[in-house]
Amino acid sequence: MVSSESKIIIVGAGVFGLSTAFWLAREGYKNITVFDRCAFDKNYYNPSNGCDGASADINKVFRMAYWGKLEYQALAIEARDVWLSWNKRIAESGPSDLPAGLTPEDKLLDMCGCYFLAAGPTLRGSYAESLDTMERTAPEFRKMQFVKGNAEDEERLGIIGAKWAGKHRMVQKFNRGNTNGFVDVNAGFTIADKACVYARFLCEQDGVKFVLGDSQGKIETMVVEQRGQQKKVTGIQTCDGRSHFGDLVIVAAGSWTPSIIPEAHRAIEATAGTVMFIDIPRHRQDLWEPFHPDNFPVWFYQKGDGDDYFEGVGFPITKEGRLKFGFRGRKVSEAQCSCYRLMIQMFGCRAVHQFPRPSHRTQSVCSKGLPMFAMHAHKRSRISTPRTKYSNNPIGTVPLHGLSLMKEVVAEAFPELADFGFTDSKLCWYTDSIDNDYVIDFVPGYSDSLFICTGGSGHAFKFLPILGRHVKNRLGGVSDQFTSLWKWRVAEGGKENNGLSEGETGPREMSNLQMADPRDFKFENAGVVSKL
Ligand SMILES: Cc1cc2nc3c(=O)[nH]c(=O)nc-3n(C[C@H](O)[C@H](O)[C@H](O)COP(=O)(O)OP(=O)(O)OC[C@H]3O[C@@H](n4cnc5c(N)ncnc54)[C@H](O)[C@@H]3O)c2cc1C
Ligand SMILES: *[C@@H]1O[C@H](CO)[C@@H](O)[C@H](O)[C@H]1NC(C)=O
Repeated sequence: MVSSESKIIIVGAGVFGLSTAFWLAREGYKNITVFDRCAFDKNYYNPSNGCDGASADINKVFRMAYWGKLEYQALAIEARDVWLSWNKRIAESGPSDLPAGLTPEDKLLDMCGCYFLAAGPTLRGSYAESLDTMERTAPEFRKMQFVKGNAEDEERLGIIGAKWAGKHRMVQKFNRGNTNGFVDVNAGFTIADKACVYARFLCEQDGVKFVLGDSQGKIETMVVEQRGQQKKVTGIQTCDGRSHFGDLVIVAAGSWTPSIIPEAHRAIEATAGTVMFIDIPRHRQDLWEPFHPDNFPVWFYQKGDGDDYFEGVGFPITKEGRLKFGFRGRKVSEAQCSCYRLMIQMFGCRAVHQFPRPSHRTQSVCSKGLPMFAMHAHKRSRISTPRTKYSNNPIGTVPLHGLSLMKEVVAEAFPELADFGFTDSKLCWYTDSIDNDYVIDFVPGYSDSLFICTGGSGHAFKFLPILGRHVKNRLGGVSDQFTSLWKWRVAEGGKENNGLSEGETGPREMSNLQMADPRDFKFENAGVVSKL
């Protein structure tokens, strides 16, 4: 059982690691060290600065509409209060009281509003369910949601402020106006990189230590002892060859988690989302203005089905002039060998000698001669592992299918942007669980020495200020509404499992997909979606 004196090691300083450290420290845990291979103390979570985790991003949607999932809706409503209190504290701080990378003008949560739209005249089922659930359980927030085409709602919205009519006009061209949906004026976006900088700052204020950067912060392997039938994790070894021992290791390494905890590949899978950007030049203030968050909302849009299903999201312009568009109509995985060769390649370590053995068991001996076992007791040898601009085997493009659909939608909805074409792209890696609920629990078979904290499934950023409260509960043996929802669970035979068991021969495996080339970023051929 962990206590406030226990030495706790957290691997990963993204949303899950930060929020966990924050809440444990507040609860009185005194000895917490967070490791991350990214030098967040120097690059401030800026995604153009070599960070490729899901949390290191320019912006993320904040919403409370949760398609009828009441627990998450309630958590988002609570998170909103904390986001707003963080906004307030930052605004009231002097510049020197804030961490580098943050100024008193920065608003972590911007409630520019969010339009949830879908093609066609009839309100989409998931939207109707969101509205109904809100009406039943949090009616005061339902009053701030307005159904498109509902005369009464549109009149109420007009009373709230004239700017909403303008925002509505900005997103009315999808499907030539033939759309259904609603706007939530209490939703918007968070400035993700700055939010992580602030959360890390709060952790440090509460005594959390950080070991950041390659190689001192980069985990090479866990130190695992075999004790009879049970294993016990006694610490980690980092790529500088040092060992760090602790009473509990919490792995919050996002989509890299299965490459650290072998058993986790049956619980979660790394899948890539396609993110596209349009950088608007400074001299085009005629476009900076209408896409400014004061005049432009976050939008969600869904249309079509089967192979042409589109689900996408767009954001207002950033202070740097960047418009971001995300596509997640289809999941993409990237199988890589998890045995010897890949471990070396992935972790880039030379300090440890690994001896591949038959049946994918890898025995590790650390440079200091400490006995260690990295047991790969799983049968499958290849797991989906993130590949980004900053990987050893870098990738600078995205699957053509999603890009083509995105181009078609953006050209239709925002024809004024067509001349620019997409100016940049990114593969952003989700950590999908078998049911899109998070995975926050002790890993079985390790005598409560190893804890997994991940499974964001594309929707955890908004919970940065509050997620760790429930991690803390689970660690302390306090049950709450999330204990069973987020328990350790693995893909089961015969079930769909959110595509987790498809494997590398599945239809979404990257090597089987056509990738875009730079010419595809231009809009000339928008509307002609290549049939793959
Ligand atoms: C394209 C995309 C869009 C999204 N949009 C939204 C949204 O709009 N709203 C929302 O609420 N959520 C959104 N999400 C989800 C949200 O971003 C994630 O759920 C959340 O950021 C995951 O945090 P994490 O801590 O699990 O992972 P990460 O942020 O990836 O953090 C894991 C950390 O582990 C570190 N690490 C990995 N391996 C090692 C190692 N060997 N040694 C040391 N450190 C290591 C990495 O450097 C990284 O910093 C989106 C996700 C994606 C991919
Ligand atoms: C944390 O634990 C380690 C190992 O037990 C110990 O050396 C160190 O002093 C502890 N630090 C704090 C702040 O308690």
